[in-house]
Amino acid sequence: LFIVYCLSFVSADDEDDPKNYKDFKLIRINPESEDSLSYLKALYEGESPYSLDFWQPPTRIGALVDVSVSPLDAPIFVRDLTSKNLKYIVAINDLDQAIQNERSTTAWHHPIDGFSYDKYNSLVDIHDELKRLKREHPDLVTLIDIGTSHENRTLLVIKLKGRRNVVSEKPAFWIDAGIHAREWIAPATAMYTVRQLINGYDTDPQIQSLLDSVDFYVLPVMNPDGYEYSRITNRMWRKNRRPATCKRNHFHTICCAGVDLNRNFDWFFGSRGTSNDPCHETYHGPQAFSEPETQAVRDFLEAHKPKAFVTLHSYSQMWLIPFGHRKRSYPQDYNTALRPLALRATKALYDLYGTKYQVGTGADLMYEAAGGSHDWAKGNLKVPYAYLVELRPKNTMFGNGFLLPEREIPSTGLETWEAIRVVADELVGQF
Ligand code: ARG
Ligand code: ZN
Repeated sequence: LFIVYCLSFVSADDEDDPKNYKDFKLIRINPESEDSLSYLKALYEGESPYSLDFWQPPTRIGALVDVSVSPLDAPIFVRDLTSKNLKYIVAINDLDQAIQNERSTTAWHHPIDGFSYDKYNSLVDIHDELKRLKREHPDLVTLIDIGTSHENRTLLVIKLKGRRNVVSEKPAFWIDAGIHAREWIAPATAMYTVRQLINGYDTDPQIQSLLDSVDFYVLPVMNPDGYEYSRITNRMWRKNRRPATCKRNHFHTICCAGVDLNRNFDWFFGSRGTSNDPCHETYHGPQAFSEPETQAVRDFLEAHKPKAFVTLHSYSQMWLIPFGHRKRSYPQDYNTALRPLALRATKALYDLYGTKYQVGTGADLMYEAAGGSHDWAKGNLKVPYAYLVELRPKNTMFGNGFLLPEREIPSTGLETWEAIRVVADELVGQF
């Protein structure tokens, strides 16, 4: 026993020094058979001899799988893929380079410091911009502090309402973004929505009457600790920053930080598509709503009972409808309300620049996953229109996954606004 005790030691997977992605690869795999698929699924579930980061987990035959791998493990990994007859391409050969290419180099176009709608901003800059909007449009804007993160950052909601209240009881529309830290296009898109509404109020009669009839609540960064961690320490961080939870196996104790907030809602908590391993990317946490970030959103939504709920993620260009926790599980108004509206919204999105979205449930189009916020919003809170949107890009031949270049922020922001507007218009008169 003494020897065992001496051999055991504690290690942590993440450090505070910035993670270097020099020569890390993004491998894009096309699973063409059941065998290939189950091989990849086993790797994803954690039986992996090498350290892999699944950007796009295996789902079904023909759906491309994106995995990032270290330069050390890459040769062994692709040798194994070849021996198992899996087809792949190296989508990114040097992740570090791709991370640098994500940012525009035209600094004269975007100032390095301070907020810009066309770049990826720090949390402080986003909050400063929200405060500026409130100063400049005090009649339209209210800021609401709905709670604080593990590391004490504010969860700041911007409420937008028109000057004339057309009806006394107005429907509320909830939009959140950045529940997953590395999906930077999501907060940027949420900020675009805010700007479209504010600027449109005095220039576009339709937006004016919309904002006079619907109250918007936008939380641009739902996972502020993770977001800052992905900016400063590890660009590919997904979870929140819950202090490390330890697990023991034989001689080893391994401790990992973070909970996947989109597995932490109380909807079939801990079942399919979630992990009880604190080191896994989909770790669901010790219990439903164990995290301050999910608690704050739950409490706010329970108090405000929105009629529409949109949670912004990236990537794959999908407009997802509940339910995502189990295949072939649909709300009773799936075909009569949720899906027709999603089709109209993505049609409007397509009409702007020709960007194609798939429409369906997360379980049917991707993988099953319990504890998601949009499932909870529909199933538990009974929000009539609840959606999860996976923004650009698509993981076809090209596309840098989470590393969407800054120059695509404006078009993504504007096309997504067209879709959100369709959903908002639907609330007018109906509630
Ligand atoms: N990528 C998101 C996540 O992992 C979306 C999941 C959508 N739901 C689903 N069941 N596939 O949380
Ligand atoms: Zn996500």
